[in-house]
Amino acid sequence: MTDDRDIIIKAEGLTLIFGKRKKEALELLNRGYSKTDILKKTRCTIGVNKASFEIKKGEIFVIMGLSGSGKSSLIRCLNRLNEPTDGKVYFKDHNITRETNKQLLHTRRTEMSMVFQKFGLLPHRTILENAAFGLEIRGETREQREEKARIALKTVGLEGYEEQYPRELSGGMQQRVGLARALANDTDVLLMDEAFSALDPLIKSDMQDELLQIQNKLHKTIVFITHDLNEAMKVGDRIAIMKDGVIEQIGTAETILTSPATDYVEAFVERVDRKTIITAETLLFKHPTTVKLGKIGPKGVLHKMREAGLNVLPVVDNLDKFLGYVWLEDMIDLEKRKVQSIESALYSEVPSVLKSYTVEEMLPLITGHHYPLAVVDEEDGRLLGLVTQTSLIIESTRYSKTEMNELIDNANDL
Ligand SMILES: Nc1ncnc2c1ncn2[C@@H]1O[C@H](COP(=O)(O)OP(=O)(O)O)[C@@H](O)[C@H]1O
Ligand SMILES: [Mg+2]
Repeated sequence: MTDDRDIIIKAEGLTLIFGKRKKEALELLNRGYSKTDILKKTRCTIGVNKASFEIKKGEIFVIMGLSGSGKSSLIRCLNRLNEPTDGKVYFKDHNITRETNKQLLHTRRTEMSMVFQKFGLLPHRTILENAAFGLEIRGETREQREEKARIALKTVGLEGYEEQYPRELSGGMQQRVGLARALANDTDVLLMDEAFSALDPLIKSDMQDELLQIQNKLHKTIVFITHDLNEAMKVGDRIAIMKDGVIEQIGTAETILTSPATDYVEAFVERVDRKTIITAETLLFKHPTTVKLGKIGPKGVLHKMREAGLNVLPVVDNLDKFLGYVWLEDMIDLEKRKVQSIESALYSEVPSVLKSYTVEEMLPLITGHHYPLAVVDEEDGRLLGLVTQTSLIIESTRYSKTEMNELIDNANDL
């Protein structure tokens, strides 16, 4: 359960209808008519259809969907650039849907900044003036706003460009100015509507990295809209997938990939590069049979191996810290030679991984040997479980055939 204090934005049954006969359209919507039928009957378009969600303080919440699915309609309801037809939006402790125009203006200027796809720069103003624009509207003194704008420009890597004009900057740099302007406002919330969509792929990727770096430092709450699934997966802490104004699913990239809520979501995420998303945490085999070093001799280990049906077992110390593996042949050999300690047969030079490791990061680690991968706790090295070669191979059967063949060729055992 999330603590209520962690929630910064909350929407309940948020609905936005475009057109003149909104009331009639809303009634039909409540009676279960589809977006297409409502358009036919009332000439009204459903922008957002009963969206309910909570955005947590400090997260990047991605709203993702194809063009026309209602992303812009939705984000613009959050600061009431679109007036919701029905439902509620709470921001911190107040009900945005009830605010007077004056309160709303204050909220927009001091609590949420918006970054647009088309940058929205003023051509006859310098980069510094553009970055300071939000503060100018707020009525801050030139000195104050320029100082904040300089800091923001530095944050986005544009130090030295203060006196230039937008046309002198590339698209990527102009978008940085747009971002700097939002940062200069120093609001808790950033609303970014397809902010990177117009950028070239490489510049886009740089901007994504930069956004994540900035976020690491500033801990904003970011509502980030994109129609690019890979972008959503890369930047989003959680993702809401929209279709026809409806939020089909909200979850982490990994949850959405491993348990899609609807057929639509399943079909949608099929194209995604799973091996960069699925982590050891998902593939983890918990509570494997382990061997405690010093507590058990070769005979005991052989017994455990027979019970578990395995010829290799992980070894841990008293505190469950992962130490390595022991093999069947070695145990038989030790037992024959009446050696009581298994220590001399411990293979300790083996890779281990953290829960956050992706399939892509783990695959190279399984080739060339026969061990499973030990998943250990980041802090104390405790063995949390194993990712077996089998589970990695099965996960990889979801990839393309060529990739798959390469993997099987490389793996030593299944
Ligand atoms: N101002 C408007 N008037 C009428 N219909 C609109 C308006 N803006 C958006 N729509 C419609 O609302 C739906 C959602 O659009 P939009 O929120 O812009 O989608 P997205 O941002 O996901 O591309 C679409 O069917 C679109 O045609
Ligand atoms: Mg849009």
